[in-house]
Amino acid sequence: MEGSAPQAAPPETEAPEIDTSKPHPARMYDYYLGGKNHFAADRETAEKGLAAWQSGRIAARENRAFLGRAVRFLVAEAGVTQFLDIGTGLPTTNNVHEVAQAIEPSARVVYADNDPLVLAHARALLTSSPAGRTAYIHADLRDPRSILSDPAVTQVLDLGRPVALMLVAVLHFVPDEFAPARVLRTLTDALPSGSYLVASHITGEHDPVGPATGAAAYRAAGLPAQLRDGDDFARLAFSGLKLVPPGVVLVSEWRPSTSGPRPTPAEVSWYGGVARIP
Ligand SMILES: C[S@@+](CC[C@H](N)C(=O)[O-])C[C@H]1O[C@@H](n2cnc3c(N)ncnc32)[C@H](O)[C@@H]1O
Repeated sequence: MEGSAPQAAPPETEAPEIDTSKPHPARMYDYYLGGKNHFAADRETAEKGLAAWQSGRIAARENRAFLGRAVRFLVAEAGVTQFLDIGTGLPTTNNVHEVAQAIEPSARVVYADNDPLVLAHARALLTSSPAGRTAYIHADLRDPRSILSDPAVTQVLDLGRPVALMLVAVLHFVPDEFAPARVLRTLTDALPSGSYLVASHITGEHDPVGPATGAAAYRAAGLPAQLRDGDDFARLAFSGLKLVPPGVVLVSEWRPSTSGPRPTPAEVSWYGGVARIP
């Protein structure tokens, strides 16, 4: 599904079935962010997590703000105008193409997520500026080869030029048994020198109870989830890459746009970083 201007919703037959009886991470994240696209099962599981991790909503907002700052940095300072955003989430404010095209209208973005509801709402992600292009694919990060070979990726992105791979708030849904290091290597090996990786990840390092209870609520609902400490996340995501200063830090500390007070490390409990593929 692709667009250089607003497009019609995908035909219903294209969308995998939306199961509202089970929680989905995209809809739970939308609930944390104050969106409207969630069902009772999503709210119930999200509330179980929030009961123990009361700052979960603050953390989600800080993560989303990090994503926006990282995209602005990539376009305005690193000169990157192509994005592969895997684990997109439901459309909300400051989607990657909106942030990127506000600076460079010709920016191109391919979105990918494995939640059927994101596919159903993908029209909002296809509102590209006329000079740029966006596309959406229903795909699973754990199968990176199928993402790389998807026509949306090969037609919308020029893989001979730098691409920013966005894995923001998605790696904690890929536990070790799914070989996330291999997934990452497959993706970064496919991108040319001068490409970037943006990644963020929930951690239990600063609050041993809240995020762990949240992750347990996801697992109890049948959703894979694994917390990682800062070193494990840095090793998994950024090994062999050149981290952009300030390196792997709490998302709230990554090039903050204001000098005002920021939440505590325990409230944020979410690491992020941006690195250049040499
Ligand atoms: C917490 S949201 C993050 C949204 C956005 N990247 C952000 O940071 O604001 C995580 C998204 O990852 C998606 N996701 C989880 N596991 C995935 C997988 N294996 N493949 C593709 N997407 C996945 C979920 O459906 C959800 O939309």
